[in-house]
Amino acid sequence: MNRTDGKVALISGSARGLGAETARVFTRSGGKVVIADILDEVGLQTVAELKQAGADAVFVHLDVTSESDWQNAVETAVSSFGQLDVLVNNAGIFFTKTTEKMTLEDWRLMTSVNLDGVFLGTKAALPALQESAAKAEVGSAIINLSSVAGLTGARGASAYCMSKGGVRLYTKACALEFAHKRIRVNSVHPGLIDTDMGQQVIDSASRGSRTSEKVRKSMQSAHPIGRLGVPTDIANGVVYLASDDAAFVTGTELVIDGGSTAQ
Ligand SMILES: NC(=O)c1ccc[n+]([C@@H]2O[C@H](COP(=O)([O-])OP(=O)(O)OC[C@H]3O[C@@H](n4cnc5c(N)ncnc54)[C@H](O)[C@@H]3O)[C@@H](O)[C@H]2O)c1
Repeated sequence: MNRTDGKVALISGSARGLGAETARVFTRSGGKVVIADILDEVGLQTVAELKQAGADAVFVHLDVTSESDWQNAVETAVSSFGQLDVLVNNAGIFFTKTTEKMTLEDWRLMTSVNLDGVFLGTKAALPALQESAAKAEVGSAIINLSSVAGLTGARGASAYCMSKGGVRLYTKACALEFAHKRIRVNSVHPGLIDTDMGQQVIDSASRGSRTSEKVRKSMQSAHPIGRLGVPTDIANGVVYLASDDAAFVTGTELVIDGGSTAQ
């Protein structure tokens, strides 16, 4: 189940957090990965850890807002492993700011990483994904990290919601556009997951007597399963969508949120 044997994945923002965990699960399932991030040192450590575990992995510096960095990242995948089968548009940023306080620069920062990054990655990877799809039994795959904040509004996080809502529908439109190229495109919608960004979400809701410990507890109970997510919860979903088990799955949104949006 969910095997990735022979597949090569390029994962943006994979030095740490959900991207790094996706790389661990993807390589344990048989695949090879390109770790791509602006955090060079952390990314190289992640590659060393993966190699220590017997995986095939390389690091490339990638700022997802840079078209030339994306070209270089795709070339690195192809020159290192001969092909590119899976693109995971995972890199993202989060901040809270009310519309009254938000500047156009804040808005553009969110747009540049969370939306331009997904567009540029998709565009750069397309020829390589199409080439591998033509040879593969099932085809190739793109998985975009959206959020539950791409499904419902979150108070104080309008720019983040805008970006993740955009990722959700960009995914569906690409699924239609690329279906005949045999490239499946799906989005994943995590609830609150324990990563650096997860902590950032908690800290942004903490003030005064509402300590970050209290916020964490209330967020745990907002997830009917009774806990926050762990990175593996999301990585398993991404790797399923990357695998041939998801051969008939495209344009869908996989919500992995402990039931938070079911209420
Ligand atoms: N953690 C959560 O609760 C949660 C919930 C819903 C969605 N998500 C989404 O999942 C994805 C991963 O989140 P995470 O929790 O692992 O976050 P994280 O902050 O722990 O890791 C994000 C990674 O992206 C990288 N990154 C940031 N800007 C970049 C850029 N311009 N170019 C390349 N890399 C860049 C960072 O260096 C980091 O390694 C994001 O898209 C996020 O919006 C996270």
